[in-house]
Amino acid sequence: MTLKRTHTCGELTRKETGKEVVLNGWVDTRRDLGGVIFIDLRDRYGLTQVVFSPQDDEAAHTAADQLRSEFVIGVKGIVTDRDEENINPNVKTGDIEVRVKELTIYSKSETPPFEISDEVKTNEDLRLKYRYLDLRRPKMQHNMLLRSAIYQHTRNYFYGKQFAEIETPFLMRSTPEGARDYLVPSRVNPGKFYALPQSPQTYKQILMVSGMDRYFQIVKCFRDEDLRADRQPEFTQIDVEMSFVDEEGIYEVTEGLMQTILKETIGVSVDLPFPRMTYQDAIKTYGSDKPDTRFDMKFVDFSEIVAGSEFRVFSKTVEDGGAVIGFVVPEKGSLGRGVMDRLTKRAQDELGAGGLIYIKNNEDEVYSSVSKFVSEETTAEMVKKSNASKGDLILILAGAADTVYQQLGDLRLMVAKEYDMIDTSKNHLLWVTDFPLLEYDPEDGRYYAMHHPFTSPKQEDMDLLESDPGNVRARAYDLVMNGSEIGGGSIRIHDSDIQSHMFKALGISKEEAEKKFGFLLEAFRFGAPPHGGIALGLDRVAMLLTGAKSLREVIAFPKNQRAISLMDNCPNDVDTDQLEELHIKLAPGAGQKNA
Ligand code: AMO
Repeated sequence: MTLKRTHTCGELTRKETGKEVVLNGWVDTRRDLGGVIFIDLRDRYGLTQVVFSPQDDEAAHTAADQLRSEFVIGVKGIVTDRDEENINPNVKTGDIEVRVKELTIYSKSETPPFEISDEVKTNEDLRLKYRYLDLRRPKMQHNMLLRSAIYQHTRNYFYGKQFAEIETPFLMRSTPEGARDYLVPSRVNPGKFYALPQSPQTYKQILMVSGMDRYFQIVKCFRDEDLRADRQPEFTQIDVEMSFVDEEGIYEVTEGLMQTILKETIGVSVDLPFPRMTYQDAIKTYGSDKPDTRFDMKFVDFSEIVAGSEFRVFSKTVEDGGAVIGFVVPEKGSLGRGVMDRLTKRAQDELGAGGLIYIKNNEDEVYSSVSKFVSEETTAEMVKKSNASKGDLILILAGAADTVYQQLGDLRLMVAKEYDMIDTSKNHLLWVTDFPLLEYDPEDGRYYAMHHPFTSPKQEDMDLLESDPGNVRARAYDLVMNGSEIGGGSIRIHDSDIQSHMFKALGISKEEAEKKFGFLLEAFRFGAPPHGGIALGLDRVAMLLTGAKSLREVIAFPKNQRAISLMDNCPNDVDTDQLEELHIKLAPGAGQKNA
């Protein structure tokens, strides 16, 4: 029989002293002290000490002897003040204990493969295999509940602003997003496939044509791409689309949402509006389109100063159109030779840099690692341009511009982490705007849409679409938080002429466009409002708000780095019958086991 609980394990205090209560939960720890058994009983809300003593109840005390970690029990007993010396100020229920009169054991537990505690020292694979145990840990429960609060406040926020929540299909045509699709074979349409949505992009645009005006959805997206700590094959977006808006309209709604989420979930206030930076400035200043602006170390361009240098690495780089750039690391001019050698090696091995050049701007000496080749005057000029103070270190890379900006951006992050220069108590939100519309792929010899083919070019760059496509800027923006891309979106093309120009720039023929996106183009022929939107990565937001290092910490049942779910062991083999029904034959050697 279930003892109906009167309280949770996280709420009893001296206010309830003397009352009879019923608690349900899991045995967290058990101590047997001179014939009296103490159990910490745990549920989602906290821990309560329950005591089995023969004086209180002989039968309950005897039954308690068999209790072990993770047994699920119900107890009825009396709330009692703890003796002064046993008070635990660290837990809410630390003033009291429950002296048990009745015990019900609902279920026993095998010895768990790891302890249910936040200091869990087991490897992640084991945690993922026994995810239900891992999720019992207070930290994971906190993460799940914080995530739940994000859903709740997101919905409240949008409902309060007249947004409609509309579901879109999971079985759909492939989207033009650019990652690989997860495909689903159709049994009733032999040889045909659905794709799982990489995002609801096309549907939400069509909803604007339908007059839905303000749409949002908290929605799963699926992308078959290489996994990283901040990438899962299935992840959740807060997806938004609005009609009759420009960038400002999207920024305003998104900023309000982020402000609400931060305030309501972790009690942090952020000022509005968020700062903005163009893509071009982000690259030139931080070497990244998702710069971490919680610390400085902005780039300095030395190219002009060193163009005429006798040091060929410098002058040749500039001659070839490359860049010589660097940044100042405050107060690190004292780093020794060994440390600098190790940093150089890491820059080469991990970032692919050709070499690392440095200047130590110390009081007694300005030391340059290339003093043999570069004149003292040039070095002094570089120090001056960098605004380095005495005692600072200047790190410098030279090479082809695109590569060297990226490498220096990575080096900036590497150094900041290594020397603990990031103030993690800060939350920096930043719009990165004016992304290039197109990206050239030298291998394929063609341009690809950097965001997606329905992203609108900036009006003032429209003329360049044919003459200089690489320099056309898009009405596209990303939202960056603490160096993570947490969202992205754009103002869309709603004019069929501009859309045709865009397809032309992408080298997509009329026929191909019709074949791939015909349904969308057709919809646009029936009165499409100007529209735009954004999608926020909910998992990434949750990761940042909990301070987790990986998305796996904020997703109940994530996949590991090999896209495998270790708990239910999928993907897995299927019966030959199932495949036949789906009209599928596996290639020889593909992992099909005959069932
Ligand atoms: P985008 O592809 O930039 O835009 O995705 C939006 C946001 O989703 C998150 N995200 C991911 N999170 C976890 N794992 C992944 N594999 C993953 N991929 C993306 C990121 C990203 O910023 N349809 C457009 C949005 C629009 O234009 O409205 C889109 O999906 O935080």
